[in-house]
Amino acid sequence: MSKPTFYITTPIYYPSDNLHIGHAYTTVAADALARYYRLTGYDVRFLTGSDEHGQKIERQARAKGVSPREYVDPVVADFKKLWDLLLVGYDDFIRTTEDRHRVTVQAVFQKLYDQGDIYKAAYSGWYCTPCETFWTGRQLAGDNCPDCGRPVEMLEEESYFFRLSRYAGRLLQHIEDNPSFIQPAGRRNEMVSFIRMGLEDLCVSRTTFDWGIPVPFDPKHVVYVWVDALTNYISALGYAQPDDSLYRRYWPADVHLVGKDIVRFHTVIWPIILMACGCPLPRQVVGHGWLLLDSGKMSKSRGNVVDPVELVEKYGVDAVRYYLLRELPFGADGNYSEEALVTRINTDLANELGNLVARTVAMVAKYRGGILPAPGTPDGPDEELRDLAVAVPALVAEQMEARSLNGALDAVWKLVKRANRYVDETAPWNLAKREDLAPRLDAVLYNLVEALRFTGILVSPFLPQVPPRLMSQLGLAGRPDLTAWEALVWGACPSGTRVTKGPALFPRIETAKQEK
Ligand code: ME8
Ligand code: MG
Repeated sequence: MSKPTFYITTPIYYPSDNLHIGHAYTTVAADALARYYRLTGYDVRFLTGSDEHGQKIERQARAKGVSPREYVDPVVADFKKLWDLLLVGYDDFIRTTEDRHRVTVQAVFQKLYDQGDIYKAAYSGWYCTPCETFWTGRQLAGDNCPDCGRPVEMLEEESYFFRLSRYAGRLLQHIEDNPSFIQPAGRRNEMVSFIRMGLEDLCVSRTTFDWGIPVPFDPKHVVYVWVDALTNYISALGYAQPDDSLYRRYWPADVHLVGKDIVRFHTVIWPIILMACGCPLPRQVVGHGWLLLDSGKMSKSRGNVVDPVELVEKYGVDAVRYYLLRELPFGADGNYSEEALVTRINTDLANELGNLVARTVAMVAKYRGGILPAPGTPDGPDEELRDLAVAVPALVAEQMEARSLNGALDAVWKLVKRANRYVDETAPWNLAKREDLAPRLDAVLYNLVEALRFTGILVSPFLPQVPPRLMSQLGLAGRPDLTAWEALVWGACPSGTRVTKGPALFPRIETAKQEK
């Protein structure tokens, strides 16, 4: 039987600036979901990319005296370096400047025009260039963009329009019939009210600049950058291209993961484009919250962006991933602070997980010469530890299906904490003093190693560096049969394996060092 498919996407980011920790949050979260679904047996496709057209990029390039292409190329190269650094294992990276993308966008535009969903008319309206968004007079916040607060410009031109209103009823029906389509529920309610207020036809072409995909039947117009950008999710699969086998295999997407700032584009414009094309709608759009600073939203113009590269160099990739995935409650905003990051490292990673590994490995070395003993008969808290360990995979699954990554990590840490308590309760150092308690000590050591093996499997979507480091200490390197999701069977670890001390998984961060 062929595996079920799972297609997950991130937004394609603007290469107008380097990416910050907020962008890293979305992409690392998508990567954790992709890794989780791969681990649990899905045929996963994970897409990310770059959104390279539009007036903003054209202007920035001009200001630097280079072509838009020369401007974006090194920035996009840095995107890829950042994803490599963060161990983001995407399957494809789509650039909207690629030919394959242009082919799809032009085919979609042509089809919508041919069937009368797109028409030409005179237009005047307010445009926010940083957001690449049109607003009506009544939507403005004073004289400024209601989203970002920056000044808007009056544009007057002949443009093509997309009849969104034609599809509003069907879209509302779809949202109603599919409660998991927009997540979390709060965002769904916002979108329902927005659509109920009435959808105005959308201006989908521009003539005042060139850096875009030409409208196929009227090439002095370029396609509106959001129509161009959203189409990436199917252009990357070959939709309307000679080879559309990936489209047939993976579409509809299972999850479009996006920030709350762009939920509206993904739950109104995008589904309507798809409906008009006769394509199935994505199963789910998840709008996560923002990572905020005390000084407000991160932005280059405010000069308060946090650079993920610096953080990884300072703290390591798994620590940064852990912090991002643990700190933001699903769907809600959260405050970023380096202090909180260091606290997470020292508490959850160094004290709880790191120490558990170090203590367990050291005790097997000291009391049993590094050879894992047999489990023996359960006693004391053994069954409680085992029962929790075998319950956690289902808890993780439930949280991942609800797209709550912090919830999944919480579930794994229940086991980590329980295992630490188990060490305190069983006090192996006391058992080691009495020959007659040798079988009891065997059982305790075995159970701890087994709890660690479970932990190593369960954290792997989030902390990809932990499994190789941990499993080699447990003597399980090169044993995929014992480190796969299917190996989450208590007692599957054979006794007699050689446990060896390795470097600390997560060294403590000295707070004094961190202060300077
Ligand atoms: O909007 N906290 O690109 P973009 C959390 N090109 N997430 C954040 C964040 C923060 N402080 N700041 C940014 C675009 N993000 C379009 C997308 S998709 C077809 C086109 C993340 O470079 C979040 O995922 O402005 C947000 O939606 C995205 O970056 C916006 O990236
Ligand atoms: Mg933005």
